[in-house]
Amino acid sequence: MTERRYSFPNAAFTSCIFNQSLDTFLRTLPASFVILTDENVFNANPGLFAEKETVVIPAGEENKVQSTVDSIIEKLLQADIDKTSYLVGVGGGVVTDMAGYVASVYKRGMHLALFPTSILAMVDASLGGKNGVDVGMYKNMVGTVYQPEYIVFDFQFLNSLPEEEWVNGFAEIIKHACICDLSLFELLEQTTLHNIRQDPTWVASLIERNVEIKMGIVTRDEFEKADRKLLNFGHTLGHAIEKLHHIPHGHAISVGMVAACTLSEKINGLHFSESKRIISLLTKYHLPVDIETDYSRVFEVLKRDKKREGKHIHFVLLDKIGAAHAEPVSLDFLQQHLKDLV
Ligand SMILES: NC(=O)c1ccc[n+]([C@@H]2O[C@H](COP(=O)([O-])OP(=O)(O)OC[C@H]3O[C@@H](n4cnc5c(N)ncnc54)[C@H](O)[C@@H]3O)[C@@H](O)[C@H]2O)c1
Repeated sequence: MTERRYSFPNAAFTSCIFNQSLDTFLRTLPASFVILTDENVFNANPGLFAEKETVVIPAGEENKVQSTVDSIIEKLLQADIDKTSYLVGVGGGVVTDMAGYVASVYKRGMHLALFPTSILAMVDASLGGKNGVDVGMYKNMVGTVYQPEYIVFDFQFLNSLPEEEWVNGFAEIIKHACICDLSLFELLEQTTLHNIRQDPTWVASLIERNVEIKMGIVTRDEFEKADRKLLNFGHTLGHAIEKLHHIPHGHAISVGMVAACTLSEKINGLHFSESKRIISLLTKYHLPVDIETDYSRVFEVLKRDKKREGKHIHFVLLDKIGAAHAEPVSLDFLQQHLKDLV
């Protein structure tokens, strides 16, 4: 077991604990706890949740909505959970997002610990305190920023993670490489998802490296005034596509990253050979790089993006692989070029 402690400017801190089981962690907690998980993680781990206060929610993005939050809160109230207890979210990004949101509002804030169980949640969703739920077509429209005290990584959970969810999670790993880590990009180019999965030590070190990348960025910029924006690479168009086509988050982000590369070529002079390398890497990791879509509907969703300010949207553009910046792009320009982007 190793532990790394990350401090935020407002004195909050998050301890990331690697290689610890849920049972061991719960024994160390100084207070009572209630677990939040989804039905897939619950069923994949028979016995793990026995004799532990556990709220099980239906799996899937379609359940990341306010009515699920309300039902969780009702169950916490029925079980007489007080605010000194820990809410322990055990699951993929849907569970960790909802655990964070519920913990931040339940009795105006209870303790929070997260056990991410998907690659995507381990390298991205559980880190940095952003949480929330979707509203109709719109992703993460309601939520808070609330740091978990603990994020615990038990890589054994990955044994039951379906193949497509590994692919999904690698979209965020490739995103990290694109925005700030050329050597990670090169490492991924030299291997395959199959090879990585064969070697648990490699999986663990790859996840730890990505935790370090994301926690490094979010501790410097908790409220997205500067570098944290870079983590939105591929997400602006990606979220619009995800909502319209109901495809997995990682797939939508992959298509969004390709679109952001094309936009970077147009606005920023990104060399097309860099885009080509990114497209090859995404394809190598079984991620889609384009989609047939209705451009006018994509534009309608884009207009409601949280990152819109007046007639502009903040887009993350690549300068080259491993270096990115955010800049406002006019809605008119986007509307005009949307067909070339996706
Ligand atoms: N808060 C953030 O900063 C942030 C960042 C990125 C993504 N997200 C959010 O994360 C969500 C996507 O995360 P996700 O891809 O993990 O989705 P998810 O939670 O829906 O998990 C994907 C699927 O895998 C299953 N699963 C998870 N772990 C498993 C395991 N160990 N064994 C068997 N099945 C398992 C889940 O039940 C689900 O069916 C989206 O809602 C996205 O908006 C949040």
